[in-house]
Amino acid sequence: MSTLKQAQKRAAKAPAARPAPSAGKPNTLMSYRPPDRGTQPDLLFPPYASTVKRAPSQALVRLPSTLSEVTGPLFGYDRIHANDYDLTAQHNGDPIGERIIVSGRVLDANGRPVPHTLVEIWQANAAGRYPHPRDQHDAPTDPNFTGCGRTLTDSEGRYRFVTIRPGEYPWRNHYNAWRPAHIHFSLFGPAFQTRLVTQMYFPGDPLLEYDPMYLSIPTERARKRLISTFDWETTIPEMALGYRFDVVLRGREETPMENDMRHLLKGL
Ligand SMILES: [Fe+2]
Repeated sequence: MSTLKQAQKRAAKAPAARPAPSAGKPNTLMSYRPPDRGTQPDLLFPPYASTVKRAPSQALVRLPSTLSEVTGPLFGYDRIHANDYDLTAQHNGDPIGERIIVSGRVLDANGRPVPHTLVEIWQANAAGRYPHPRDQHDAPTDPNFTGCGRTLTDSEGRYRFVTIRPGEYPWRNHYNAWRPAHIHFSLFGPAFQTRLVTQMYFPGDPLLEYDPMYLSIPTERARKRLISTFDWETTIPEMALGYRFDVVLRGREETPMENDMRHLLKGL
């Protein structure tokens, strides 16, 4: 058994942090339902080094939400521009790399579409480089690719982006660590507090089984929900391959999220 898998087993057995008894009454403004066990990543997963510093070490204290936190203001809905969904058309020239279409639906626990939800993505360029001062690894930036996109789901919960297939990139988590190719997703619900963040991966990526971030999700079944599927229907001849990635917000088929801490509040 690999070190990663051993650590994952230990983390799965570790007791989750419990809220203090005095943490207050459950929030009555938002009905949080704890996700099914195994659907969300372990916040403490030592092979993913930064979780050691970041994971809560003490019982959580629930702070009741105020009305303004759950009702608004909404962020960015009126600031979506024509080319925001097309990351290949945001500069004067074409970016380097393989053009792809990434599309899917945002669904609730019952498979119903979630309409008019802000979906944002960010990603590395084809060489695996972000245009960020802290990304200094030896790969070229692309003046024609910023790597950020945003769109709203339509009435059927559908979204669609045109982009470039991102490259893998090194990170210093452990010796010879490389992130699998991925696209970061953010979904804004009705308010700031309902924002969810996750990552989409590509089918058949050999780096997935070495990636502590991906492996921090306890079950293989849940992990696979982060892998997009090749989509013949959205593939455009002589233009782009299509990949489908649906996001399920709740329930047994819930998409693993990086910032979802509801499972640590289980028992309230
Ligand atoms: Fe990334």
